[in-house]
Formats: sequence, structure tokens, C-alpha cells
Amino acid sequence: MTSHAPIRSQTPRRRRMPIRAALGSALVPLLAGCHVVSRLDYGHLLSRQGWQRTDRVIETLALAPGDHVADLGAGDGYFSFRFAEAVGSGGRVYAVEVDPGKVAALRREVAERGASNIEVVLADPDDPRLPDGSIDLAFFCNAYHHFEERVSYLRSLRSDLSEHARIAIIDSKPEGSVFIPKGHILPEGQIRAELSEAGYRHSAGYDFLPIQSFDVFTVQ
Ligand SMILES: C[S@@+](CC[C@H](N)C(=O)[O-])C[C@H]1O[C@@H](n2cnc3c(N)ncnc32)[C@H](O)[C@@H]1O
Repeated sequence: MTSHAPIRSQTPRRRRMPIRAALGSALVPLLAGCHVVSRLDYGHLLSRQGWQRTDRVIETLALAPGDHVADLGAGDGYFSFRFAEAVGSGGRVYAVEVDPGKVAALRREVAERGASNIEVVLADPDDPRLPDGSIDLAFFCNAYHHFEERVSYLRSLRSDLSEHARIAIIDSKPEGSVFIPKGHILPEGQIRAELSEAGYRHSAGYDFLPIQSFDVFTVQ
């Protein structure tokens, strides 16, 4: 496996939260049902860790040094940087994005932070442009519902995956719909059905996220 220079700073930058989002987070306990309230991280309520339990997500995925990860629909790369830290200089993270503006911004940030084990990929909507048979974890966070023709996308993704690969999907469930706009909701049952149709096996479902589902699938 190729070795890469160590990463200078892997601590995700703190981003300022817009006032509306901050108020939304603060109102969570008042408006939501018990299942949401009991799953929030109150020590970090105004950060992504608070509403998405990102530390626990990383811990649950249990990546090994040297793993190759595809962050599909990477956006600003929040998870790409977290994965880069987890897989180390011998691993590889592909931050896959279709938006050229986001790709350019992410490439700049990767260079600034010296994250030499992250490769930012400008993908096609139906092709992540990944090396064949290389990916140990394909990860979608807040992204799967954005993909079109998902079943055929997942079927062709198979050739990019290693033999023991996993696909992990975090997306917003209807129970979180007080906070999430309608078009961004995808029921967990639908996600599982689509993965099954594409030929993957459901291997784990986690219910510790306040407003989202978190499922892991393996190659059959
Ligand atoms: C809401 S953002 C999520 C970003 C990131 N995963 C996160 O959790 O912060 C969804 C991203 O998916 C990207 N996207 C949508 N369709 C895509 C596709 N077919 N391939 C790759 N990226 C895609 C969008 O451009 C957008 O940046």
C-alpha cells in the first residue's frame, strides 16, 4: 500500500453555526419526542457532534489503519477529514463530489491541512470514478437521498469495493422531520429495500442518532 506523508492537522475546524440552526438545536428538547431528547449529546448541543453524534459514528465504524474509504457526496469533507485521521498515512480517503465548487474548496482545504491521504474526486452523478476493487468502506452521510438512480449506482459501485467492504448510510428519518426539510427525508425501510435490491446484505442498524438512521451493509 502506498505510504503518504503524515497529516498536519486532523482536528476538524469549528464552523460558526447560523443563528437559525443554533436556535433550532436549542429548541430540540422542547419540540421533539423522547427518542430525540435521549439521544442528543447535551455537552455539544450546538455542534455537529451534538445532533449527529459524530464521535460515536467514527467509533462504531471501527476503521483500521490502512483502510480505503469513499466518502460519497463528501460536501465540505467533514467526515473525509475524520476518516483520514482514522485510516492514517497508510490509508486512503476518496472525497467524492459532483459539485465543482465544493471540489475546488475541498481541494484547497486538503492542501492547507496537509491531508495527503485524502484524494478529492470530481465525480459524475452516476460514476464515483474510484479505483476498481479498492474500497473497504463506502460512506454516505446526509447524501444518499441526493443521489439519482440509486439502485443502479449501488450495483455499479460493487466493482469498486473490496471483498470485505461495507456500505454505511446515515440519512434523515421521518421522525426527525420537525427539523429537516421534507425533500431530505428518506425512510430507513426504503434505504434497506434499495440496498437489498442492489444486492447488498443488511448487517447492522444503529439507533443512537437523534434524528437519523444509520445502517451498514455488506457485499452478499
Ligand atoms: C448535504 S451534502 C452532505 C455532505 C457531507 N456528506 C456531510 O455529511 O457533511 C450532499 C452532497 O452530496 C453531493 N452529491 C449529490 N449527488 C451526488 C453524486 N451522484 N455523486 C457525488 N456527490 C453527490 C452534493 O453535491 C452535496 O455536496
